[in-house]
Amino acid sequence: MKKPTLVISLGGSLIVPDQINVAFLREFKSVIEDFSHEYKFILIAGGGKTARNYIQAASQISQLTKDDLDWIGIHSTRLNAQLLRDIFRKQANRIVVKNPERAQPFKEDILVAAGWRPGNSTDLVAVKLAEKFKIDTVINLSNIDYVYTADPGKDPKAKAMPLMKWVDFCKLVGSKWDPGLSAPFDPVASKLAHKLGLRVVIMNGNPLANLRHFLGHKAFVGTVIE
Ligand code: UTP
Repeated sequence: MKKPTLVISLGGSLIVPDQINVAFLREFKSVIEDFSHEYKFILIAGGGKTARNYIQAASQISQLTKDDLDWIGIHSTRLNAQLLRDIFRKQANRIVVKNPERAQPFKEDILVAAGWRPGNSTDLVAVKLAEKFKIDTVINLSNIDYVYTADPGKDPKAKAMPLMKWVDFCKLVGSKWDPGLSAPFDPVASKLAHKLGLRVVIMNGNPLANLRHFLGHKAFVGTVIE
């Protein structure tokens, strides 16, 4: 039987929270390897602290445009994607996908992708690749447990939402993109995911046992948007 393919968008906050998180990446590799008898994986790397460090450095010297900010972000996702490709060098396709519209079918267990163009985050790359390869589920691994009704850091009444409809989620995140926007799933990607009827699962990559539970069809902590 053909193995199903899962799209996992790996948040930059997990790869490079400050320095590169080697312990996390080592464990992530072992989770993916443990489940590669059951699934193929498309892994999209986020940018993390690298982008912010470069933006800060460049901004101290010159004034950057919104596109400049996005391009620094894109290049940091590419660096992290190369890191992922090298970690999975035995199992992954040799080419890191930089344009999801041009991604080619792959025979290996893993395909790695990075940021594409200004105006969105890697969330859109994940959705575009799901569309391209006719995959119905995208897992968004980041550093939050759930989507909340408001920012839990600012509003003590914010409620965790284990299940959400796209109309409600799109209202929550709005429709405008700003470089470095911190939303559980970016507005541009959300709009397309809604149109395609995708299922997006937002979950915390820490601890990775949570991802293991999901992959093993057990109860997990997170928000399912559909
Ligand atoms: P990320 O997808 O990593 O976004 O891309 P993020 O929301 O900052 O999340 P973390 O860092 O993973 O937690 C980093 C930045 O790269 C640019 C955007 O500016 C984004 O904020 N980017 C990324 C693009 O402009 N286009 C892309 O296709 C991908």
